[in-house]
This record gives sequence, C-alpha cells and structure tokens, in this order.
Amino acid sequence: MNPSLSIYDNLGGEKVIRRLVETFYPKVQADPLLGPLFPEDIDPVMEKQYMFLSQFFGGPSLYSDTFGHPMMRARHLPFPVTRERAEAWLACMTEALEEIGVEDALRDFVIARLSGPAFHFVNTP
Ligand code: HEM
Repeated sequence: MNPSLSIYDNLGGEKVIRRLVETFYPKVQADPLLGPLFPEDIDPVMEKQYMFLSQFFGGPSLYSDTFGHPMMRARHLPFPVTRERAEAWLACMTEALEEIGVEDALRDFVIARLSGPAFHFVNTP
C-alpha cells in the first residue's frame, strides 16, 4: 500500500473496482440478512456501486456526475438497515477484497473507511 496514492489507485483503478463489485454482490445476495433487501436484477445496483465506490475511493466522480449529491444515508432510508446488516455488509466486502487478492494492510484500510458510512446508514434498531 502506497500512502501517497488514493485508495482507487492503490487498488488498481477501474478494472479492480469492477472486479470488487462483481465479487461483492453475489455474497450480498447469498447473505440471509442482506439478500432479501435487494432486487433480483442486481446489475443496475452493481453499476451504481461501481460508480459510487470509484469516487468514494478517490477516483473519477462518476456517481455525482450522473445522480447528483450522493446523500447515501437518505438513499438507504427506505431499507431497514440494522447494526447486524451493517456488519454483514462489511463482512461481505472484507471477503470480496480478500478474494480478489488485495493485501491485508490495504484491505483493513478500505474496511476502516467503509465502516463509518456503513454504521452511519443504520436507521433501524
Ligand atoms: C450498512 C449496510 C447496508 C445495507 C443493508 C445496504 C443496502 C442497500 C440497498 C437495499 C440498496 C438499494 C438497492 C436497490 O436499488 O434496490 C442500496 C443501494 C446502494 N448502496 Fe447500500 N447498503 C449498505 C451499506 C452501504 C455502504 C457502506 C455503501 C457505500 C459506502 C453503500 C452504497 C450504496 C449505493 C451506492 C447504492 C445505490 C444508490 C442509488 O440507488 O443510487 N451501501 N444499499
């Protein structure tokens, strides 16, 4: 991990973010707590997540350029996000990072950066 580069560049840019998203969502769909919240056609969700994570990790602002201000907590309000679901989401992301071969230090850094938003989106006891 090179601390003077963005997460986006540390991961390896567009191709790796795509591979991460494509590895992550099958895990989300298979998770008993998360799967039922998501539509059967996961492709549009994957595309939005690819756009969002690209910018969240310091790459091009693909999501905002298309959808405006992310307002991610607000966009999650229609869904019952519990603490357990935030933990499950982060566990799926940890597994996906490991599966695509991201080194431990970078993986831990990415998960730390995503943990803030994940627990911030909790809206249901
Ligand atoms: C905390 C646990 C989380 C749960 C249970 C959750 C669940 C969901 C659900 C159900 C959707 C809607 C799917 C649809 O379009 O029908 C969604 C959309 C989305 N989520 Fe999450 N999410 C979580 C955390 C996160 C985190 C941590 C991020 C990124 C930091 C994130 C980014 C997104 C994005 C970018 C979308 C698409 C928003 C849009 O419609 O434009 N989510 N999430």
